[in-house]
Amino acid sequence: MNLLDRPRRLRANPVLREMCAETDVCADHLITPHFVVPGKGIREEIPSMPGIHHVSTDQLIPEIEADLELGLRSHLLFGVPEHKDEHGDSALDDKGVVQQSLRAMKKSFGSDIIAVTDVCLCAYTSHGHCGFLEDGVVVNDPSVKQLARMALSHAQAGADIVSPSDMMDGRVGAIREKLDAGGFVNTSILAYSAKYASAYYGPFRDACDSAPQGDRKTYQMDPRNGREAVLEVLLDLQEGADMVMVKPALAYLDIVRRVRAEVLCPVVCYNVSGEYSLVKAAAKAGLVDEAAIVRENLMSMRRAGSDLIITYHGRDALSQGWVRR
Ligand code: PBG
Ligand code: ZN
Repeated sequence: MNLLDRPRRLRANPVLREMCAETDVCADHLITPHFVVPGKGIREEIPSMPGIHHVSTDQLIPEIEADLELGLRSHLLFGVPEHKDEHGDSALDDKGVVQQSLRAMKKSFGSDIIAVTDVCLCAYTSHGHCGFLEDGVVVNDPSVKQLARMALSHAQAGADIVSPSDMMDGRVGAIREKLDAGGFVNTSILAYSAKYASAYYGPFRDACDSAPQGDRKTYQMDPRNGREAVLEVLLDLQEGADMVMVKPALAYLDIVRRVRAEVLCPVVCYNVSGEYSLVKAAAKAGLVDEAAIVRENLMSMRRAGSDLIITYHGRDALSQGWVRR
């Protein structure tokens, strides 16, 4: 054949393929979640998320130390409190599990790590909603006030980045104002901006015992909507977000691509619990090659335009060499 273009030429040799690769993923692109629980000496595997554990603060420190050895330097904390009530007041407790963990992390690792905290009420409320529930309705403005207090409490305990995942309107602005007034002008906000009402959060809700009464459709986004993601992102940026997030990742890569085209700040995607557990289950059943699948999934998130990826695969990916340091 008389072909001028033969794209296969650049695929012929492994070195050439490395040279021509458009996308890469490495340890500093990954953010590692942790589920912290009250108590001491606790490290229990979460049944819905094989390989991921509930840890008490004292166990969190060695876990992060091991992660650091692998090159994983940024860590996202979820608190699973002892106490739940109507308004999630234990989220504000200066001696709460996240606050204590932050202090321990900063004491052990200082600025060698970035401590990110999830700011949301659902793990702390008795009804499991991300805000206050009044007459069966999740009310916006009082919830925002509580979320801002929670964010300030995390900043006071040493959080580098606070990350509101509640999807109330105006929370980023309220948090920015509260942080600034408290003297925390350098604490960053990573906004869960385009967070969809997704079935992919199932394993996480088991982990946090945070399944709501009813559903979250009055605050999380409708999976049918794409333009609305851009609206949410632009609002969060106007309110002072430093980074924006799309969540989940794999079923929403079109949204990642779209958001990437609209903003100049870092774009983060959340490779959520359901996405993780599906891969784990399929690998366990011998249906897929876990290494190749994880690499391909993470690469697709990067290729779509994510600067950073929150993922539960990080530890395996680095320790098994699926992803470079
Ligand atoms: C809390 C929160 C959720 C996740 C992150 N923060 C669950 C939810 O909204 O129900 C999901 C993370 C995951 O599935 O890995 N608002
Ligand atoms: Zn929530």
